[in-house]
Amino acid sequence: MVCAVWAVSGVREYDGPRLSRGDVIDLEVTGVAHGGICVGRYEGQVVFVRHTLPGERVRARITDAPAHARFVRADTEAVMRPVPERVSPPCPYAGVCGGCDWQHVSMDGQRALKAAVVREQLTRLGGEDPQRWMDLVVEPIPGDVDGLGWRTRMRFSVDGQGRAGLHGFRAHEVVPIDTCLIAAPGIRDLQVTRRDWPGHREVTAVAPAASTPVAIPDAKPGIVKVREIADQRVWRLDATSFWQVHPGAPDALISAVRAAIQPRGGDHILDLYAGVGLFAGALAEDVGEAGLIEAVESDLVAVRGARRNLHDFPQVRIHAGSVDRWLGRQEIGHCDAVVLDPPRTGAGKRVMASIMQLRPRAIAYVACDPAALARDIATAKRAGWRLSAVRAFDAFPMTHHVECVALLEPSDV
Ligand SMILES: C[S@@+](CC[C@H](N)C(=O)[O-])C[C@H]1O[C@@H](n2cnc3c(N)ncnc32)[C@H](O)[C@@H]1O
Repeated sequence: MVCAVWAVSGVREYDGPRLSRGDVIDLEVTGVAHGGICVGRYEGQVVFVRHTLPGERVRARITDAPAHARFVRADTEAVMRPVPERVSPPCPYAGVCGGCDWQHVSMDGQRALKAAVVREQLTRLGGEDPQRWMDLVVEPIPGDVDGLGWRTRMRFSVDGQGRAGLHGFRAHEVVPIDTCLIAAPGIRDLQVTRRDWPGHREVTAVAPAASTPVAIPDAKPGIVKVREIADQRVWRLDATSFWQVHPGAPDALISAVRAAIQPRGGDHILDLYAGVGLFAGALAEDVGEAGLIEAVESDLVAVRGARRNLHDFPQVRIHAGSVDRWLGRQEIGHCDAVVLDPPRTGAGKRVMASIMQLRPRAIAYVACDPAALARDIATAKRAGWRLSAVRAFDAFPMTHHVECVALLEPSDV
């Protein structure tokens, strides 16, 4: 499969005849775009089409033709010329449920698509030379064989009849499903979709590594606690606090972060967007009691979790508050390394600028959105930093999501 990539913002103005919702067209699919969609052109008009693959010829129905948009959206109805990466989706709800994008693609094919998207974001938004990342691969999370049974956290929506299900793609309707194949066995055993949830809006299901799975209707923070295992430690956290959803992801990311910043005894390290303290806890022994790790997190329930989990490390300080404001207020002057794990929107220019002023020798940027990562990389590069390494992990098989760990270093090092 040749993974040409299309940039959504690169779509040119189109003045020809317009396709309308419901039209059925035959289409050569030429590329993949960020977001679990592929791209082709129909009589010059750009078509973003789901459930296909680059190189395929498909019959597709137009699902959305926004009046002022320069493109239409479509879904595949028949595949006239499949590519070898196409497989029969393991899940019977593939195509109906909006949770997965790549059920119809082999695991190697999914990773090739994700690698192409990461490469394209680094090039287009991050200003990287396209040749530089040609060898970038998306690594499977150790232990993941078939991309199923990994999701340890799920949020089900409840419809007016009290039935729990998952949303269709870009849809408000709840698809009643019997079971979800990417859900971890502990979540499947809860049988959330076979029970009634009258009067509730949603059900949060968590299958932790070291405590009993729980299904919580309309979950509120601060009530249900779970236990996870990472870096050979047990972590106690609120069921609503952030934790990587793939059970192998915390260890894979810790090891990538360690390899990136190479912590030394006595180091002063910032763990920004720290959650319940995953990276701070993992790096605490590396820096030893002569070192200092400052973890910053805005969610007060997660902060309580971090304090409880890391109270045995005198070298760890946990700060409650927004990273932006904390960096602005502190007179840190210098730190040795930074772990940066922001939400999907990325860190942004101000946070990046504040971090770079501290002149750390390395920033390990953990990113769940390669576009946000690439924008922040561009900010760092404008300030004289360079992107030294990138690893990408298949932490969300069957979906278009991918987790990256990038190493940024000052150019003069
Ligand atoms: C992607 S999670 C990472 C958590 C942690 N590093 C981990 O791997 O478990 C992002 C975290 O940033 C927190 N957060 C979001 N915006 C923030 C902000 N402006 N300042 C501080 N923390 C923030 C969220 O509450 C969440 O815990």
